[in-house]
Amino acid sequence: MAQGLEIKGARTLLTGASGGIGGALARRLAQEGAELILTGRRKDLLDSLASELGAEAIVSDLALAQAPEQLLAASGRVDILIANAVLPASGRLATVDPARIDAAIAVNLRAPIALARGVITQMSERNSGHIVFIGSLQSKAATGGASIYCATKFGLRGFSLALRAELARTAVGVSLVLPGFVADAGMYADAGVKLPRGVGTRRPDQVAAAVVRAIRDDVGEIEVAPLALRAGAAIASLAPELSARGMRLLGGERIARDFERAQSNKL
Ligand SMILES: NC(=O)c1ccc[n+]([C@@H]2O[C@H](COP(=O)([O-])OP(=O)(O)OC[C@H]3O[C@@H](n4cnc5c(N)ncnc54)[C@H](OP(=O)(O)O)[C@@H]3O)[C@@H](O)[C@H]2O)c1
Repeated sequence: MAQGLEIKGARTLLTGASGGIGGALARRLAQEGAELILTGRRKDLLDSLASELGAEAIVSDLALAQAPEQLLAASGRVDILIANAVLPASGRLATVDPARIDAAIAVNLRAPIALARGVITQMSERNSGHIVFIGSLQSKAATGGASIYCATKFGLRGFSLALRAELARTAVGVSLVLPGFVADAGMYADAGVKLPRGVGTRRPDQVAAAVVRAIRDDVGEIEVAPLALRAGAAIASLAPELSARGMRLLGGERIARDFERAQSNKL
């Protein structure tokens, strides 16, 4: 049975480290004493974060089929895996380029699965380890104009829950952290999308705190969002049609269009 893992001294592989939430995760994990391996595609950002935190940096394009295996071979021992990288691929399905669909599925879903598969053997042999997937409230609540993102994030939730059940009798823990809208840094902040009045946000350091708690206490799922959004996600799980109608009334289509405009160049 996994009972939570001590982060101090744990070799921690973090994907998406060059992103907004990735930066906050890296800094918090460094504070906790993790031995960090930071990965992403933007070498300059990774190198500067790695030198600030005394971490290793490995450039890897997770859209490429062999990348997860190569990344693990270059990483050596991994005590904690945090699969955080993302490509939003937002937009109405007919307008999303097939290459963006493939890349988003590879980065958001295939790579986390391949990385998890690659580390569980070594973790099981050492009888210790933890895997954290960064999902989203859109792992539970689907929105029009985000079908690819939702497909990968719903998939990631199913994978995480199933893997946690599969490893329940081992010392390897599996967690899913589900943020709502995150302000200050990251893909929502970069998009500059205006939310309806009363829809609150959380900060990247609050996502990082949830990741630390998930690892320390072996928590299966943690949502990082205000109560109203978490309630909305719960309703969406139970009554998706009702939720879709509610989201349309709250301006969901306008928000999706704004995300599509802001993220159309992300590949
Ligand atoms: N921000 C939010 O409001 C929010 C809300 C809910 C959930 N989340 C989740 O939080 C996580 C982090 O998101 P974020 O907001 O920090 O996004 P972000 O700032 O856009 O960062 C995305 C990260 O993914 C990496 N990435 C993208 N394509 C890649 C590829 N082909 N190969 C390797 N790495 C790649 C990027 O690195 P390079 O560009 O250097 O490759 C970057 O480090 C994601 O899983 C996201 O779904 C975020």
